[in-house]
Amino acid sequence: MPHPLEQLRDEALRQIESATDEQALETTRVKYLGRSGSISSWGEKMKALAKEEKPVVGKLLNEVRNAVTAAIESHNAQFHLQKESGALAKIDISLPGTPHEIGSLHPLHQMHERAIQIFRRMGFALAEGPDVETEWYCFDALNTPPDHPARNEQDTFYLSDGRLLRTHTSTVQIRAMESAPPPLRVIASGAAYRRDEVDATHSAQFHQIEGLYVDENVSVADLKGELEFFMRELFGPGTDVQFRPHYFPFTEPSLEVYVRSKALKRGEQWIEVAGCGMVHPAVFEAVNKARDDKAYDPEKWSGYAFGLGMDRLAMILFDIPDIRLFAQNDLRFLRQFA
Ligand code: DAH
Repeated sequence: MPHPLEQLRDEALRQIESATDEQALETTRVKYLGRSGSISSWGEKMKALAKEEKPVVGKLLNEVRNAVTAAIESHNAQFHLQKESGALAKIDISLPGTPHEIGSLHPLHQMHERAIQIFRRMGFALAEGPDVETEWYCFDALNTPPDHPARNEQDTFYLSDGRLLRTHTSTVQIRAMESAPPPLRVIASGAAYRRDEVDATHSAQFHQIEGLYVDENVSVADLKGELEFFMRELFGPGTDVQFRPHYFPFTEPSLEVYVRSKALKRGEQWIEVAGCGMVHPAVFEAVNKARDDKAYDPEKWSGYAFGLGMDRLAMILFDIPDIRLFAQNDLRFLRQFA
């Protein structure tokens, strides 16, 4: 004759076996193992048992409780699995996926990469300097005296500690010469800042590529020849380049560069794209002073320098009518260059 607890166990296991969902399992659990469930209540009943019976029945009670609990848990897990695979079965794996949008480089960035690639082939190495600069690198070392209009607060963003946002990338000329003796052939690409009135052709932040070549016997002919080569590589055959006299404190003579190209939408119009010239001896002397040597002896070395307006070049190359478009991040604009 099985013990009543064993009968309860078998009865509970049969019910668990025939349960069809989690709800039925829970009802069974409460019925047998709940606070006043028929198996649980044997805890109370044991108190009335003879002393020698207690450990035997106690052991049995534990076994029965464990067996029923284990059966409920394993059936619960099974129901859970069934539910999950049911949900998976509803997914149609033949449906098309969600495509990832592929980004593209900003037109200004594309312009920089094209320009840098051409200069690389011409033997220029990349140099760099910070956007936040001192007056030394932006003006003093570039032969720009304190009373020069470019130093006026109207044009320059000054920081409260006396430093400033560089107004041109010519700062990198000085940094490059301070850190290496001649001969030197470097370009530097980056942003420059001026307190300009913002309109279709002026922005408070714009971009330049600076070039510097220092060697023995560098002449204006080298400067003209190399910039002409660059412009033709960039804009294609049928590109004319014109040099017009100008003034910059850090070059003598100084020139402005104009281009016009049949390949361009704006056709026959001359457009100013760069400033350039032969490095002023005073610039070499300033560098020597900072280096504390005579490495850039103006009697021995000469050099040319240029600053290309990259926003302007990109506007010409891609026929973009307004410089503000570069910074507005309008996808309708940007997608045209993807
Ligand atoms: N720094 C000048 C500007 O931003 C451009 C320039 C002119 C750069 C002559 C040069 C140079 O290197 O030689 O207007």
